[in-house]
Amino acid sequence: MNHFQYKGNELHAEEVSLKEIVARVGSPVYVYSHATLTRHFTAFDEAFAGVPHTICYSVKANSTQAVLRTFITLGGGADIVSGGELYRALQAGVDPKKVVYSGVGKKDDEIEYALNTGILMFNVESEQELTRISEIASRMGKKAGIAIRVNPDVDPQTHPYITTGLKNAKFGITIDRAMAEYARAKTLPGIDVIGIDMHIGSQLTKVTPFVDSIEKLKTMIANLRGQGIDLQYFDCGGGLGIQYSTEEPPLPADYGKEIVAATKELGMHLLFEPGRNIVGNAGILVATCLFTKERDEKNFIMIDAGMNDLARPALYGSFHGVQPVVKDQDGMIVADIVGPICESGDFLVKDREVPMFRQGDLMAFMSAGAYGFAMSSTYNSRPRVAEVMVKGNQFEVVRERETVEDLIRGERVPSFL
Ligand code: LLP
Repeated sequence: MNHFQYKGNELHAEEVSLKEIVARVGSPVYVYSHATLTRHFTAFDEAFAGVPHTICYSVKANSTQAVLRTFITLGGGADIVSGGELYRALQAGVDPKKVVYSGVGKKDDEIEYALNTGILMFNVESEQELTRISEIASRMGKKAGIAIRVNPDVDPQTHPYITTGLKNAKFGITIDRAMAEYARAKTLPGIDVIGIDMHIGSQLTKVTPFVDSIEKLKTMIANLRGQGIDLQYFDCGGGLGIQYSTEEPPLPADYGKEIVAATKELGMHLLFEPGRNIVGNAGILVATCLFTKERDEKNFIMIDAGMNDLARPALYGSFHGVQPVVKDQDGMIVADIVGPICESGDFLVKDREVPMFRQGDLMAFMSAGAYGFAMSSTYNSRPRVAEVMVKGNQFEVVRERETVEDLIRGERVPSFL
C-alpha cells in the first residue's frame, strides 16, 4: 500500500497533484510520501512490538535529511557504512546509542569519529578490523562496542550483486573463524563484546533464508555462552524485499512472527537494518517525455531522466513500473524508455508495453524511494535532480535541484596551465 494514487485521471502523491509539483519544481524530480514512509516504518516496528528491539534504518537506501528525520522522529536509529552516513544521521538528530556501523572498509578517521560520537556498536567484518578498532579505541581511552558480522553461508536467492551472505562474498567473518575472533575480542583492551550480526542480502522475497541464518547464529550463541561470552544484541540486518512488479514478499508482520519465534528463547535485544522495505515504495521519480522515435525494429521514448538519476535498471536490470501522470494517452505501445546519457545501457524501461507517451507528457517511475536518489550521479554533467516531500496537502522541496555551478564546485585549474 502506498499513497501514490489517481484522482480522476491525475496521479497524486497523497493530496498533491504531481503535475502541480512539476509546475513548481521542474522535472525530473523525486517525490516522497510522508504517510507512506511513516506507515512502512510503523508496520516494521510493530512487527516486533512484543520484544525489545531497535529499528536502525539503513541510511544507504535513502540518506536525505527529511527522510532520516521522519524515521528518527518515530524512534528509529541508523545503520551506517561510512563517516558520511554517520554525519548525515547525526545532523538529522539520531541518538548515537541507536547507531550500528557496518561495512568491510572502515578507515581510521571514520572509526575515531564513530568512537567520539559514542555509537552503539561496530559490526566487525574482518580479523584485522577488530584489531584496528581495539588499537584506536585504546589510544583514545575508550572501549568500542562490537558485534561480529557473521557470514552464515546461506543463499538469500536474490540478485548476485546484492547477495552478501554466501561464503564467497567479501562480507563478514565465517562461522568457524568468528568463534575464534569472539574469544580473541574478549582479550582485547579496546573492545566490549556486546552483539552478533548478520546481513545476508537485499530484496529477499522469502523468510526462510533469514531463519536458516538465525539458526546458525543461535548455535554459535549457545557455544559462546558456554565459554562465558554473553551477548546482548542480535542484529538481524536488513534485506526484506518489496513488490516492484510480480514479487510477493512477506509482509513485515509475517516476517516479524517468524523472526520473533526463532529468536525468542535467546532473550536478546533485536536490531534490524531495513532500508528498501521502508523507503522503496514511498518514493517515485517523475520525468518528462522529450521525444519519441518509432522504428521498424523498436520504439523509443526519450525522457529527461537517465541512468545517472535512477541507476537500478542499467545496473541490475531492475524493473520499475511506469505510470502516466495524466492518463490521456491513445493506447499502449511496446517501447524502451531511455535517458539522455550517451550509453546504450541508459534505459529505465526495456521492451515493455507502456502508454503511448507524447512530447511533454509526464510519467512516474514507481518504487524509486530506495537506492534511487542515493545512487544518482552527475554523469554526463547532469546536475542531480530535486527531491520533494509531500505530507497531506502540503509539499516542500527537501533537496534543491543542483545547478551547473554545483557541477564544478571544488574543481581547480592548476597554476601551471
Ligand atoms: N545492512 C547492510 C549491512 C547492508 O549492506 C544493506 C544493504 C542493508 C542493511 C539494507 O538492505 P535493504 O533492507 O535495503 O535490502 N543498490 C541495490 C541494493 C544494495 C543493498 C546494499 N546493502 C539495489 O538498488 O537493489
